[in-house]
Amino acid sequence: MEQGQGRFWQFEAADRAQLLADYERFVNPGRLAVYRALGVEFVPGKREGAWLWDLDGRRRVLNCRCSGGVFNLGHRPPRVVEALREAALELDVGDHMLLSAWRAALARRLAELTPGDLQYSTFSPGGAEAIDVAVKLARGYTRRAEIVSIKGGYHGHTGFALAAGEDVFRAKFGPMPPGFVKIPFGDEGAAAAAITERTAAIIVETIPATAGILLPPPGYYPALRRLCDEVGAVLILDEVQAGLGRTGRLWAIEEWGVVPDILVIGKGLSGGVYPMSATVHRPHLDRFFQENPFVHLSSFGGAELGCVAALAALGQITEAGFLAHVNEMAARFAAGFRELQQRYSLVREVRQRGLMVGFELAEPWMGPTMTSLMADNGVLAVFADFRPSTLQIMPPLIIQPEEVDFVLEALDRSLRALAKGARLPEEVLKLLLG
Ligand SMILES: Cc1ncc(COP(=O)(O)O)c(C=O)c1O
Repeated sequence: MEQGQGRFWQFEAADRAQLLADYERFVNPGRLAVYRALGVEFVPGKREGAWLWDLDGRRRVLNCRCSGGVFNLGHRPPRVVEALREAALELDVGDHMLLSAWRAALARRLAELTPGDLQYSTFSPGGAEAIDVAVKLARGYTRRAEIVSIKGGYHGHTGFALAAGEDVFRAKFGPMPPGFVKIPFGDEGAAAAAITERTAAIIVETIPATAGILLPPPGYYPALRRLCDEVGAVLILDEVQAGLGRTGRLWAIEEWGVVPDILVIGKGLSGGVYPMSATVHRPHLDRFFQENPFVHLSSFGGAELGCVAALAALGQITEAGFLAHVNEMAARFAAGFRELQQRYSLVREVRQRGLMVGFELAEPWMGPTMTSLMADNGVLAVFADFRPSTLQIMPPLIIQPEEVDFVLEALDRSLRALAKGARLPEEVLKLLLG
């Protein structure tokens, strides 16, 4: 790629075809083929707030995918960008073996904000590594091997995170680490049978996202807490998607009044401008790290620039009125969803907590078809990988009322097309659904 007219990292609409050819040749031709088959060859260029523009400068979409929460504050949230820009002139990632003022400041803030006596933070660059830390800590502390997780759960693509997730992402990679047991979500009886004195931990996404934004029965989390306490197992909650205001509460688990032993946070933690995640644990577990202070190392975990970005992002999320805004926008969506449900029998259920929505359609092929129709109507929203009948709607938390209406209108238009018989070609559905 020749250098464009602007700065070396800026590309022009005229570069688009060459960039796609480079992507195909040097990055991932298989992925490009899927997008071509779907008719969604969108190349993100300019981005701001809730919106993403194609490099061609003509198309824009309202981002209701938000990378599962990475863009909770919208694209390029000004406060976070400014903090990072200023810090980049004086800091770098820091040396992960040394002490760090910025890691201390961020950990202190997280201890203040997380439920109960959650106190110590270990930082990683991404959610999956943060899950790996949680599993390591649970195993190291309990000296037990067994990890119970949820069918349809998703915790990322590294070692223990992958082992705790669905078979579809693991099957091609041979033997996984032993000791991982899966149970259905929301089933207290299954949890009671699985959590024993051999259990190191149970790990659950508070609201499983990739499984289709599932909501537990009211007594589920209190029951998990009790079951873990009875046998000395560790309760790990993954709030990589559900945390940080997404549900209209700072933490999704607040709804059920339970304090996990380990809370895993990622994605939106640093405003989408720096990779950063955190594994926050309660004091009793820290015995393991006190006995083994160098047992887990990561060059980029707790990068000091990332800590600055995260502190700025948390500043915005915890500002007066922020969660009230999330709840207002959620109520506006809920009213629109109710109307759509009355008009379209194809909509079977809407599972909603704040701005985390599982829009349940009648058939599995409808999720991918709606993904494509919504893109045609200017909204990026994707079906849930492990439950394709669900369209996930995850707008940025800073979405404005007129943007909510724009999404609802796009849903209306897309549902009308679906009701009239729109359906992706069979070969595309086969590619997406297997
Ligand atoms: C609930 C949940 N946990 C963990 C992860 C892994 O995060 P990362 O992709 O940053 O490794 C994801 C990613 O989508 C996720 O949705």
